[in-house]
Amino acid sequence: MSELALQGGKPVYDGAWPAWPVRDQREVERLVRVARRGNWGFNGPEDAEFRAAFGNFLGVRYGFCVTNGTHALQLALEALDVGAGDEVIVPGLTWQATAACALDVNAVPILVDIDPQTLTMDPAALRAAITPRTKAIIPVHLYGCMANLDEILAVANEFGIPVIEDCSHQHGSEWRGRKAGTWGKLAAFSLQASKVLNAGEGGYVCTGDEKLSRRLDALRHCGRAPAGCENAPPGEVPQSGNFRISEFQAAVLNAQLSRLPEQTERRDENAQYLSKLLREIPGLEPLARWPQVTRQAYYAYGLRYRADAFGGLPRKRVQEALKAELGIEPGYTYQPLNHSPLYKPRSKRRHRLSEEYWRAIDPQRFELPQCTRAAEEVMLFSHTVLLAEREHMARIAEAFAKVRAHAEALSAKAAVG
Ligand SMILES: Cc1ncc(COP(=O)(O)O)c(C=O)c1O
Repeated sequence: MSELALQGGKPVYDGAWPAWPVRDQREVERLVRVARRGNWGFNGPEDAEFRAAFGNFLGVRYGFCVTNGTHALQLALEALDVGAGDEVIVPGLTWQATAACALDVNAVPILVDIDPQTLTMDPAALRAAITPRTKAIIPVHLYGCMANLDEILAVANEFGIPVIEDCSHQHGSEWRGRKAGTWGKLAAFSLQASKVLNAGEGGYVCTGDEKLSRRLDALRHCGRAPAGCENAPPGEVPQSGNFRISEFQAAVLNAQLSRLPEQTERRDENAQYLSKLLREIPGLEPLARWPQVTRQAYYAYGLRYRADAFGGLPRKRVQEALKAELGIEPGYTYQPLNHSPLYKPRSKRRHRLSEEYWRAIDPQRFELPQCTRAAEEVMLFSHTVLLAEREHMARIAEAFAKVRAHAEALSAKAAVG
């Protein structure tokens, strides 16, 4: 085996990787058209086109563009009228917004542990966390794995609790041939710059329920009654703020959406090929894919690293060695929310609604051993890597195998210096 690039050897691959976001004349032409048209605000033709096209792509009846994924989650909870005295169950491993949206409606986020194979909400932990106060469940389709919708929906339906799917990582995944975002009562998507469908910033919230859609429409639009609902009672058209997007964002979304199906297919094919190659290397365990998944979208590709099969080589050292071999390095998962520097419910006085509430929102009261393990063991490659050629997947596997072949020597070196 040749010398490691980290120690002066020849790297496995020193070419380029795909840049993100992918963009071309499609974005430019639409943006110029919006600029010339002068209708820059909300509810313009680009917004209408995107709502129709993305709704059609997902197979969902009602959808609204909103400022970001954080607000999409918050408005979904507000559409369900979740508020003070309520609990919302979320996985302990996710971006902080999945939990923080519950704080933003004065509810208590309840953190539950994850299934170690997919890093998504563990249905048994969900069941154990349900109380008479539970008013919503937010499973997250995280990184490159879907949450187990069959089991989560079975628990939710048994207790009559609505599910909001957090699809911020999965624009285009399918469960039994139906898109993520159409299984729950509502779904929220982030359209922020790092996501596979994005306009720099943005969000989308959708539902198949007409009554909820009217509430969502009012909620994103300063509490204005949707057309035809002018005489609806206030409870049906709640007061709200401005959560709209501009025509410039919608124009970029339309252009980006035109590439999404082809990109999703390519990522899925590359990911499956990469998993096949990596499974042959002792110590590497690609995250699992439920048999019900008929199309997997990827925000990131995840694998579990077992240091004991790599001569005890610390994950950080593998990361450095891969960077030298490939020019890219895998990252780590979010910090579990019971110890996340970005999830600090008790850092704002407005959350001190009562001493009872203050205690209830303390994230450290939750035990999340599988989240902790995942944060220690899992490595993630950005979705952009999966847009490369098939042969580049083989280079990634080759680089891992090379690092493993040198692992003992590298470990010894790490121990000395
Ligand atoms: C799982 C998840 N949910 C929600 C969000 C919030 O989306 P945004 O950043 O658009 O507010 C994100 C953003 O990264 C996310 O990853």
